[in-house]
Amino acid sequence: MRLMYSILKWFSNKDLLYIRRLITEILTHKLSHNEQSKLFWDNNGYTWNIRVSPVNPSEDDLNIYKKYLIDGKKNKKVLLLGSTPLLRSLLSEVGFKNYVVADFSFAVIETSLRALNKLGINLSTENEIWLKSDWLDMPLELESFDCIVGDMVFTQIEPHKQPLFVEKLASLLKPKGYFIGRVHICNLNVNDREPRKIIEEILSSKDLENTVEQRFALLYKLRDRLRNNKTQTTSPHTIISELLKYQTSDEKKRDFLRSVVNMISRRAEIGLPFISQTKDEFMNVIFKEFSLETIVTASDYTSEYFPIYVLQKKT
Ligand SMILES: C[S@@+](CC[C@H](N)C(=O)[O-])C[C@H]1O[C@@H](n2cnc3c(N)ncnc32)[C@H](O)[C@@H]1O
Repeated sequence: MRLMYSILKWFSNKDLLYIRRLITEILTHKLSHNEQSKLFWDNNGYTWNIRVSPVNPSEDDLNIYKKYLIDGKKNKKVLLLGSTPLLRSLLSEVGFKNYVVADFSFAVIETSLRALNKLGINLSTENEIWLKSDWLDMPLELESFDCIVGDMVFTQIEPHKQPLFVEKLASLLKPKGYFIGRVHICNLNVNDREPRKIIEEILSSKDLENTVEQRFALLYKLRDRLRNNKTQTTSPHTIISELLKYQTSDEKKRDFLRSVVNMISRRAEIGLPFISQTKDEFMNVIFKEFSLETIVTASDYTSEYFPIYVLQKKT
């Protein structure tokens, strides 16, 4: 790497920008969605403040998860999809023993622990079984879990692979086992609004302070508005180009827009699209294997489009 750095230093700025564009193009076209996603998570992990919702579960989301996790039978066998720090902390706090943490990135399993540490939460990993695996291939015993839990896991799986994913989850659950997970559902109300208008609305709000929550509010609205209905995905490049097109002479507003661009620039660099699905599209996938127990939303942030689904495996 040092050698590469020394060589690249001699290139002109113009050539360096060209090389960067080439690398982005290669990463976008050469890698599969899964490889892009793994690269993204390996390199970014949980760098956000893990108390920020909707990207992380809120206090009230955790109460909802807890309520349905501890419902009924004792000593449940639980599988956690991903390494969402606050869910690991919840599973440990509730007293589940030997729950499995399945993630294709060991780096994230570890950064997630560090993120908890920063909040003063020291999680004992003795109770955890770490499984480095893609969720579609987890080598686990069939019908061995009472409950599978995961926060925003469907936004990690390409829509055409979701039926396989749902089959996999159902195959690992005991009869009548549960899946509990928060999902992002597209806000269809933004469809008749020009992206420029969506940006303007947020920029003109009296309390614009460039908070992470406000940046996410704009990002999710643009994600939903700019989605490709056929692929059920939104390209980060499309969002960035709308943000850059927006003209304003107000420095504060420009800073805000720049911050939103920065938030997704790493995803854009490798061409990893956002998965953006409507409620009907999501329901269509899950109802082959699961019946709906309930849908609940948290009360401590604008959670209308981030509901928690409690699903029971069909018999
Ligand atoms: C639980 S998800 C959701 C995170 C966050 N709440 C969000 O919306 O961005 C993130 C975690 O899932 C893992 N992950 C994503 N896709 C995966 C896959 N196909 N198989 C295994 N782990 C995966 C990532 O490494 C990461 O640790």
